[in-house]
Order: sequence, then C-alpha cells, then structure tokens
Amino acid sequence: MKQIQPGIYEKGQKLYTKASSTQKVYGEKFIEEDGEKYREWNPNRSKAGAAVKKGVNLELGLDSDVLYLGAASGTTVSHFSDILEEGFVFALEYSDTVIRKLVEVAESRKNIAPILGNARNPDEYEDLVTQVDAVFQDISQSDQAEIFTKNAEKYLKKDGVALLAVKAQSISTSRPAEEIFDEVKEKLKAKFEIKEETLLDPYETDHLFLKMKLK
Ligand SMILES: C[S@@+](CC[C@H](N)C(=O)[O-])C[C@H]1O[C@@H](n2cnc3c(N)ncnc32)[C@H](O)[C@@H]1O
Repeated sequence: MKQIQPGIYEKGQKLYTKASSTQKVYGEKFIEEDGEKYREWNPNRSKAGAAVKKGVNLELGLDSDVLYLGAASGTTVSHFSDILEEGFVFALEYSDTVIRKLVEVAESRKNIAPILGNARNPDEYEDLVTQVDAVFQDISQSDQAEIFTKNAEKYLKKDGVALLAVKAQSISTSRPAEEIFDEVKEKLKAKFEIKEETLLDPYETDHLFLKMKLK
C-alpha cells in the first residue's frame, strides 16, 4: 500500500482510505494490510476520488476541517471522514430523504456533522459550521458557481483550498461543455485564483474539477 496524499493510498490501480469504521457505505471492498484496514475508494462513484486518480492533490491534511456541499448519502463524505483522522466534515445536504443514509454513516464515525440545509443560503447554517480549511462542492444546479462562491466567501479560511466539481449538463444540455466551463471559470475568477483545472473523464463525462484559492 503506497500513500499518495495524506490519508489517501494506492495499490495497483486502486485507491484506498484507511477505514475509520467497519460499516460498508456503498458496497465498497475492505482489505487488510500490515494490521490496518483500508476501504476501496471507487473513482466512478466519487468526483473527489476521480480527481485524485487524475493527479489532483486535494491538499487535505489529516487535521483539516472541511465544508462539504452536496453530501448526498455520504459516499465521498465517508472517505473524507477516513482521511481527516483529526479533522471534521460539515456535510450539507438539502434532501431530507437522502440525508437519512448520511445520518447512519455519521453515526458510525466520529467526525461528520450531517446538516440539512440549502447551500444557496449559507447564513442558514452559520451556527453549525466553523471556518474551514477546505470547501468542497458537488451540486448539480445551474447556479453551482454562485452557490460555491457564497459559501467559500463565508466559511473558507483565507489560505484554504476551494475544490469544485462543475457539471456542465446542469447548466445546459444543448451547449458544448467547453463553452460552459469557460463561462463558469470567468464567473469564479472575480473571487478566486484558479490553481488547477482537470477534466474528470473517463470517470465522469463533461465534469471539470477546479482547485482554487480565494483572492
Ligand atoms: C451529485 S450528488 C452528490 C454526490 C456526493 N457528493 C458523493 O460523492 O457522494 C448532488 C447532491 O447535492 C444535493 N443538492 C442539490 N442542490 C442542493 C442545495 N442547494 N443545497 C444542498 N444540497 C443540494 C442533491 O440533493 C444531491 O444529493
């Protein structure tokens, strides 16, 4: 098992995180090596996993606190929880049915706060979220850039890392993805410095992963 980033491991072509719980979240495989249990991280089920496979350094430390927007049932959040051994994930989701599974995932781990709320209104959850080292977003909405900007401005520490998965089809199904990505980047450049941009294919088509810093 080779460590490729803090808390992220690779063996052969497969990605792993150290299992912080024995609970299976999405049918992932566990393996044991040198007395440690690892969980396979499927890049076809996780945009952050896909970004790591494509060579993006997420810049998460073991003690980072992360605001995760669009947590769904906790597939990727569970891997962030493994990575952040001494850190914390504020996991925001606005569907009250989807969040039930996330609550179960959080119950068997010590560092996830599931938050039912709308990422369009960051003031809604200001009593529950602290300043964080990273904001990560995976939300399929046409105003995904605006949602991300509002949250990063409010919750991201000045030198923190801003990680955004942009889904072109949520903005338009008729225009070319490249045109949509250029438009989104132009909007973001008002507030962020774009450090790295990575297409997530073949794991996800028409998705761009942006790593940024606040200006
Ligand atoms: C693509 S899924 C996220 C998958 C998840 N990131 C993972 O890898 O496990 C997008 C999620 O964002 C949620 N969502 C969409 N709009 C939202 C909003 N305005 N506020 C909070 N969550 C939202 C949806 O309910 C959905 O669960």
